[in-house]
Amino acid sequence: MTPSIQEVKRRFGIIGRSPLLDHALETAIRVADSDLTVLIKGESGVGKEVFSRVIHQLSPRKHHPFIAVNCGAIPVGTINSELFGHEKGAFTGATAERKGYFETVDGGTIFLDEISEMPLDTQAFLLRVLENGEFIRVGSSVVRKTNVRVIAAANVDLLERVRQGKFRRDLYYRISIVPIHIPALKERREDILLLFRKFAADFAERYRMTPVQLDEEAQNLLVNYSWPGNIRELKNFAEQLSVLSEKRLLGREDLIKVKPEIVRTNMPVPVFENGSPENEMLYKILLELQKDVNQLKRLVVELVKSNNLRMPDADLLHTEDVAPNISLPGAPHIEVLPSSAATSEPVVAKVVTPDMRAEYQKAEIVEESLSLEDMERELIAKALEKHRGRRRDAARDLGISERTLYRKIKQYGLD
Ligand SMILES: Nc1ncnc2c1ncn2[C@@H]1O[C@H](COP(=O)(O)OP(=O)(O)OP(=O)(O)O)[C@@H](O)[C@H]1O
Ligand SMILES: [Mg+2]
Repeated sequence: MTPSIQEVKRRFGIIGRSPLLDHALETAIRVADSDLTVLIKGESGVGKEVFSRVIHQLSPRKHHPFIAVNCGAIPVGTINSELFGHEKGAFTGATAERKGYFETVDGGTIFLDEISEMPLDTQAFLLRVLENGEFIRVGSSVVRKTNVRVIAAANVDLLERVRQGKFRRDLYYRISIVPIHIPALKERREDILLLFRKFAADFAERYRMTPVQLDEEAQNLLVNYSWPGNIRELKNFAEQLSVLSEKRLLGREDLIKVKPEIVRTNMPVPVFENGSPENEMLYKILLELQKDVNQLKRLVVELVKSNNLRMPDADLLHTEDVAPNISLPGAPHIEVLPSSAATSEPVVAKVVTPDMRAEYQKAEIVEESLSLEDMERELIAKALEKHRGRRRDAARDLGISERTLYRKIKQYGLD
């Protein structure tokens, strides 16, 4: 009987409630029973090997061997011999014949980690094994047969490797029949604290100590960090904190002491190439734009509330059609939002009273002048006005040099 996701999580110690993780696990469970080749994709440290073991253990091959081979860690010169074996005298140092993994694991599963790093000739041999179970030992001419299921993993974009000519297209299609994407930690931030608690508890149990805990600020820091090394990095960090901290309730500073880079959050950070004034301006403009959008949002919510209206369906707001306007002389202006394309959903009407129209018109003006140049011009004019024409202060406020401001003033004829 197929086990449930919860059972599998319990049995294999897999922590997480994210729907993305559940989806990956569901696919793994469903495919385990078959003999299909599986391609597990995901950043470093997300749990690709854990998943490969789950698939093997839930498959009819579970009583046969499982072996994990890191294709990126085996020297190019020996990988064929490691995987397919060699005959005595096949190359210098081959003093005896040797079976390869595809022979010893017959009946079981081979996990080929970092398959993107496999040399092209090895890829050709692998394709043959996958197609008909045939392989040849290095230095031999005898074709042998094996029955091995392959689970491959990659933490880079394999299609990109195909485009670069570093990975065979036919092999790519052969192994990617069932792809499983394991989400990165930053795609499932809701699981970060759960994982931390689990690792801290495991560690405390092993060394018979009280588990470390985090105060609210420390928790925020943990959740907002980008975790490029994913679960492995989080696990190491939990262990480091458990060992290095004398306190058991840790705050923000305790975390920063052990891992200074944790203050770097995953929020988009503007990158100013050589402090380019254009980029800085662009950034300011975007911030202004964001402010305007937020003001607009507040305005809409206020309008809805003060008129006892209901908020329109979010889906309707995404339509790209232009809303037809129906003007009724003397009556409140009624704007009709189109229902989602070609459906018979009810039409939503909102009432706009004359004094509210002024606000709406302002909103329209904002929309009309959204070109970046216009925004920039407006921003500079505003800054000059605010500082009564004092260019040095306006430039500082705009985050650009006086020289750039001078150039822009000329460009937009603001003098
Ligand atoms: N969902 C999970 N719950 C708890 N622990 C996990 C989970 N996923 C992975 N781990 C743990 O995280 C560590 C990294 O997992 P694993 O080695 O499977 O990652 P990987 O994707 O193969 O990494 P790499 O790309 O570096 O080879 C292991 O210690 C594993 O036990
Ligand atoms: Mg791995």
